[in-house]
Amino acid sequence: MKLIVECREFCNMDASMRYKRLLEKKPDAALGFATGATPLELYHELARLYRAGEISFARARAFNLDEYVGMNSDNANSFRYFMNKYLFGRTDFNVANTYMPYCLSRESLTASHYELLIEQAGGIDLMLLGIGRNGHIGFNEPGTPFGSITHVQQLSEETRAANSRFFYSPTLVPTYAVTMGIATIMHARSIILLAYGREKAQAVHDMVAGPVTESVPASVLQLHPDVTVYADAEAAALL
Ligand code: GLP
Repeated sequence: MKLIVECREFCNMDASMRYKRLLEKKPDAALGFATGATPLELYHELARLYRAGEISFARARAFNLDEYVGMNSDNANSFRYFMNKYLFGRTDFNVANTYMPYCLSRESLTASHYELLIEQAGGIDLMLLGIGRNGHIGFNEPGTPFGSITHVQQLSEETRAANSRFFYSPTLVPTYAVTMGIATIMHARSIILLAYGREKAQAVHDMVAGPVTESVPASVLQLHPDVTVYADAEAAALL
C-alpha cells in the first residue's frame, strides 16, 4: 500500500494524472467511481483537464460503487444524479457506458448482472474509493465478509447520520443501499483511496496500520498489490 500525505490540491492533481496516463494508454479503460464529498475536487480537476483538451473519457466505461436502494436517477440524492452532475455531464463520457448498481427494491437486486457487466468490460482498471468514518468502503459496513460481491447492505446509523448532510431531513436517508462487495473492489487492477479531514483519521489509521479484519473493511486493502492512499495531514494525523 502506497501512502501519500500531501495537501488536498496535490493529492487531487496527482490522482487526476493517473486517469490521464491510464486513458492515454487505454482509452476504453473501465473506471470505478465513488460519491461523497471527498472526490468532488478530483472530479472538478478531471472536468478541467477535459475542457483543456488534455483528457478524454469518450471511450471509457464507468462503474459506480454503490447506490441507494429504491432511488430513481432523477432524485437529487441519488448517486446517478451526483455522477451526472459532477463528472459524466461535465466531460465527454458516453452516458450509455456509465453503470450504477441499481435496484428498486431489496428483493429485485440483480447483483450477478452488475458483476457480469464488470467482467464483460474486462474488469475494473482503476477503482476510486473514499472511506467512511467507521472504515467502510463503498457501503460495505464493518463485518461485511471479504468474499462479498455486489449486494444489498443495511446502513449503520452512523453512516446514515454521516450522509444525512446531503438530505433535507435525516429521516429521509435510506436504510438500504446496493454496493459492490469487498471482493468486487479487490478485483480492480489498481485502487486509489482519498481520505481528507480529521474525522477520517481513525479510519485511516486502522486501514493502514491496524490488523486486516472484517471489522475495518478498508483494512483489506493492505492485501491488494496496487493501492495508493492519498491523505491530507488531518486524515493522516494518527499515523
Ligand atoms: C458514503 C459512500 C462512500 C464514501 C463515504 C465517505 O458512505 N458510500 O463511498 O466513501 O460515504 O463520504 P465522504 O467522502 O462524503 O466523507
